[in-house]
Amino acid sequence: VSLKSMNTFGVEVYARWFTEINAESDLEELFSGDKWKSVPRLIIGGGSNMLFTKNFEGLVIKMNIQGITQRIEGTQVFVTAGGGMVWNDLVKYCVTHGFAGMENLSLIPGSVGASPVQNIGAYGVELKDVFFSCKVYHIATGEMRKFNFADCHFDYRDSIFKRELKNQVVITSVTFELSLEAEINISYGAISHELEARHINNPTIRDVSKVVADIRVAKLPDPSTIGNAGSFFKNPVINTSQFEQIQSAFPDIVHYCLPNSTIKLAAGWMIEQCGWKGKQIGQTATWQNQALVIVNIGNALGTEIYNFSQSIIDDVSEKFGVLLEREVNVI
Ligand code: EPU
Repeated sequence: VSLKSMNTFGVEVYARWFTEINAESDLEELFSGDKWKSVPRLIIGGGSNMLFTKNFEGLVIKMNIQGITQRIEGTQVFVTAGGGMVWNDLVKYCVTHGFAGMENLSLIPGSVGASPVQNIGAYGVELKDVFFSCKVYHIATGEMRKFNFADCHFDYRDSIFKRELKNQVVITSVTFELSLEAEINISYGAISHELEARHINNPTIRDVSKVVADIRVAKLPDPSTIGNAGSFFKNPVINTSQFEQIQSAFPDIVHYCLPNSTIKLAAGWMIEQCGWKGKQIGQTATWQNQALVIVNIGNALGTEIYNFSQSIIDDVSEKFGVLLEREVNVI
């Protein structure tokens, strides 16, 4: 089965076996015998955070469980969505119904079930800020379990699902805790500037959602027209002494101070400083408006994209002494 249409990088690779999951009972059925328990497996949602470098000699499980339900308690709203839902469809549903909390996460590609895996985030909000719980199927034991916030070990673009439980479990649904009373978060400069430019003084969640979506469209390539997986690297987090050293050599370095005296650097800025912004090699390039995003211009091979990213890592490491870590899942 070709996976080209199932990964937003648009890389042409094949899976040995493929199956689609439309209900929790499909999972129970699939793993009822031992046949599929021992073959390598890969669970995919929107395929928007992965880079295939070769064919997958195992079983690809495409999550397709749909559906939204909600429960209102006072001003709180608990929205539960199927793991296979398109993330942005859920955001649109919540914004339309006046359920506040995820408007800053508008237009992020991918699926609901994948959203906790790397704790998706943008414009001052992370998934963990609206996460309440998720339902998880454990493949080895066949058990369904509920994971609460603390069970997930969320961190910047990180969770237990990316580490200890990688490929061990399937997230079948996620419950979000939202509010009927909007608490607008416009801490991120780009949003507040854009609202000001539009003369919006008391933004609604619809306004915030619209502004975020417009900023994303202007800055980031649309995966349906040009292959990409969003930010290719994480923004590195370093300690104060390392930062001071770098800053003395590069006084303009873009950075954000984090609570426990650590500093987050803007990887896109460093990549641009190394001359990589908009640079193209063969069919691979960095995006002209955002150097943190690598794009597939046409028919790039996964290995070409991977080697391209390695050259960026090498150059940033040489110039700044900082090792960039890939954000995408390399397979
Ligand atoms: N910058 C440059 N040159 C570039 C890119 C960025 O100088 O080519 C500078 C910008 O001027 C800005 C700073 O770097 O001062 C940060 O840039 P931006 O606001 O675009 O955000 P980012 O740190 O590059 C992160 C997330 C994005 C998310 C945005 C907005 C990561 C790895 N990426 O990017 O998430 O949309 O913030 O919140 O944390 C994703 O994960 O796929 C993703 C797109």
